[in-house]
Amino acid sequence: MIKADGKYFFLNTKNTTYAFKVMETGQLEHLYYGSLIDAEDGENLSEKRAFAPGNTVLYDNAHPEMTLEDVRLETSAVGKGDFREPMIEAICTDGSTSLDFIYDSYETFSGKKEFNTMPGSYGSKRDVETLNVKMVDANNGFTLILSYYVYADCDVISRSAKFINTSSEKVKLTRMLSMLMDFDHAGMKITSFHGKWTSEMNKSDTILSAGKFVNSSFTGTSSNRSNPFFMVSDTDATEISGSVYGYNLIYSGNHYGAVEVSPWEKTRVAYGINPRNFSWILEPSEEFEAPEAVMTYSAAGYRQMSLNMHEFVREHITRGNWKKKERPILINSWEAAYFDFTESSLVKLAKAAKKVGIELFVMDDGWFGERNDDKRGLGDWDIVNKKKLPSGLEGMAKKINDLGLMFGLWVEPEMINVDSELYKKHPEWAIDIPGKNHAEGRNQRILDLCNPEVVDYLIDVMSSVFSTPGLSYVKWDMNRNFSDYYSKYLPAEKQQEVSHRYVLGLYRLLKTLTERFPELLIEGCASGGNRFDLGVLCYYPQIWASDNTDAVSRLDIQNGYSYGYPQSTYTAHVSSCPNHQTLRITPMESRFAVASFGVLGYELNLNDAKSEDVASVEAQIELYKQYRKTLQFGDFYRLKSGIICEWSIVSRDKSQAVTMVMQREVQPNNPYLRIEQAGLDENAKYHFYGRKLEYNLKGFGDLVNTVAPIHIKQDGILHNVVAKFVKMPGETEDIKASGATLNNAGVKLAQSFIGTGYDDRVRYFPDFGARLYFTEKIDITE
Ligand code: GLA
Repeated sequence: MIKADGKYFFLNTKNTTYAFKVMETGQLEHLYYGSLIDAEDGENLSEKRAFAPGNTVLYDNAHPEMTLEDVRLETSAVGKGDFREPMIEAICTDGSTSLDFIYDSYETFSGKKEFNTMPGSYGSKRDVETLNVKMVDANNGFTLILSYYVYADCDVISRSAKFINTSSEKVKLTRMLSMLMDFDHAGMKITSFHGKWTSEMNKSDTILSAGKFVNSSFTGTSSNRSNPFFMVSDTDATEISGSVYGYNLIYSGNHYGAVEVSPWEKTRVAYGINPRNFSWILEPSEEFEAPEAVMTYSAAGYRQMSLNMHEFVREHITRGNWKKKERPILINSWEAAYFDFTESSLVKLAKAAKKVGIELFVMDDGWFGERNDDKRGLGDWDIVNKKKLPSGLEGMAKKINDLGLMFGLWVEPEMINVDSELYKKHPEWAIDIPGKNHAEGRNQRILDLCNPEVVDYLIDVMSSVFSTPGLSYVKWDMNRNFSDYYSKYLPAEKQQEVSHRYVLGLYRLLKTLTERFPELLIEGCASGGNRFDLGVLCYYPQIWASDNTDAVSRLDIQNGYSYGYPQSTYTAHVSSCPNHQTLRITPMESRFAVASFGVLGYELNLNDAKSEDVASVEAQIELYKQYRKTLQFGDFYRLKSGIICEWSIVSRDKSQAVTMVMQREVQPNNPYLRIEQAGLDENAKYHFYGRKLEYNLKGFGDLVNTVAPIHIKQDGILHNVVAKFVKMPGETEDIKASGATLNNAGVKLAQSFIGTGYDDRVRYFPDFGARLYFTEKIDITE
């Protein structure tokens, strides 16, 4: 609900209030963001001042109390005494840079309008209310519209800003962020997520009592270096207690989130497009839209903050046919074959996949042009590699469809190899600086999406690929970072517009194609998670989270994503071992347990896999299909992290839950493990149980001799034969209890192996061991 009277502005969601007011001098003072408060109390929320501190700049002589440097603000530029991170910077025609935005008027309405140039959140008139505040620059007459979008149900308020050149001269924006807000205290904890290829979303905490912290990217993408999602919280906030603010940006290019503490111990958060190597020229009457920034507040720790963000992303970011549709279980050819495949080898893999219950077959990189390695071929989407695929794309799709599988394809439309037919025809379409050496990345260059002709070409060529009869899925990859930013299409004075214009070109491409092919399931990818952001998620419902498929690495990677993104947005595959990225060997069931807490897929050569692994895969898939809706769309809870990692997903109606526990490393003679669940209906009764699995005898090594009647040589022929027929019984977990008990007291699991005996009351739980448990609501009278 928005309550506005031209002086006070109160934006209320179900549990939070965001408030600001117009000061006597015309700037907007931020008053409050936190748990719900009374809109009548606006007067009490301002800081009271009689005189400004010494050595500060007064806004004007009429206000001796007023220095912009020590007021909490909703927006700020440079030149009027606020020395903190500005939201806007511009160079006017006369060379001056001073801007002074003063309140003019406001409007509110139900619903939210679409942006002209980029995607944003969306909702019905019941879901979202808009507040637009018009500010006018007292120095030059520019207009700034600050927009606030209130999503009451998920406790999210998002913001965007628009700069309109309402002056009669041209202006050059050199910084145009989306939001700015100030807390009245310092010493807050910033939690951000950093990484690199195969190691995305590592969580990192920084306590900021002075100076500045910046979470930004300059790769041209939202990047795996610093994901655009971050949090600001109380230092003692926990999963279930304390104040936590979450921030994200609906943008896929270079982002910049700055948190700065002022000398008076106020903490500023400013967020938007990275100003580095950015400028934008606006002629009179032209305007610039800054992307939408997302904010949420939880008074009850990280868990609730994540649940808010998940709900927001699920309901108001992802869209289209696949928004709420259960995602198919796929097999991807990449780790199974890399570039080395033929039609018949792929069909053989697809047959094996069909046998175990897989639903979608994805042919990854290598099907077009001379693409037998990563040095050539990108761009040649219209040339199918007939040596590998004699029946062409259509024939391949038909063969896969005839097996009863959906067919999917890999593409990397934004890229070009110098060694390609496309480059021969259009060298000017690649981003590089004429006459200067170009830095290289994966032997490929980036196509200049600032040039509308290139975008039009990609729309055409991708439309023809996407029209392949029988195609149901596309993996859209993007595998290199920007260097040598330069567009041959743009004049010299607009070269600093390249990174943002590229993103806008990309959005036009994605918008056109997703509108044209609404049935297609498209999965984003950028060397794994190098472009995992809300901008991409406005077009694709899911993204390949990481090229790392190792189950232990994935614990951290997926745990990181879970803070800001629902599990339906990140995909996870079971692959072979030793793992291709880490050489680690983890149990097949653990790989499945972790992958099923994202959108499950497989990426291994099933024809080469051990028959017992193939049997496990078949059982896993059967099980996953039963719980798929809950696993993909239920509420995600992080229960524990550390040596023991626990996650749980509860269906929206709280009728069932799936819980995972995984151990990174055995702790000898360890304490009992208790699983405390979360999110269950406290008044309902549930059945909690585990899977009844059997374990390979060889996992116990030569301990077999403690029970064998004759001596067995470890790994000898006899050991192998016995292991084939004798399985070790897994432990049983089977209890009935109320939701209140399961949520609060938890379940004490069977003892795990501690070196003193083993039977079916003991959990076989080696390094990287994992379990899945199921909780089903039962009739109260049972
Ligand atoms: C990237 C992707 C991989 C795979 C390869 C193909 O690295 O992240 O999943 O598709 O490209 O070249």
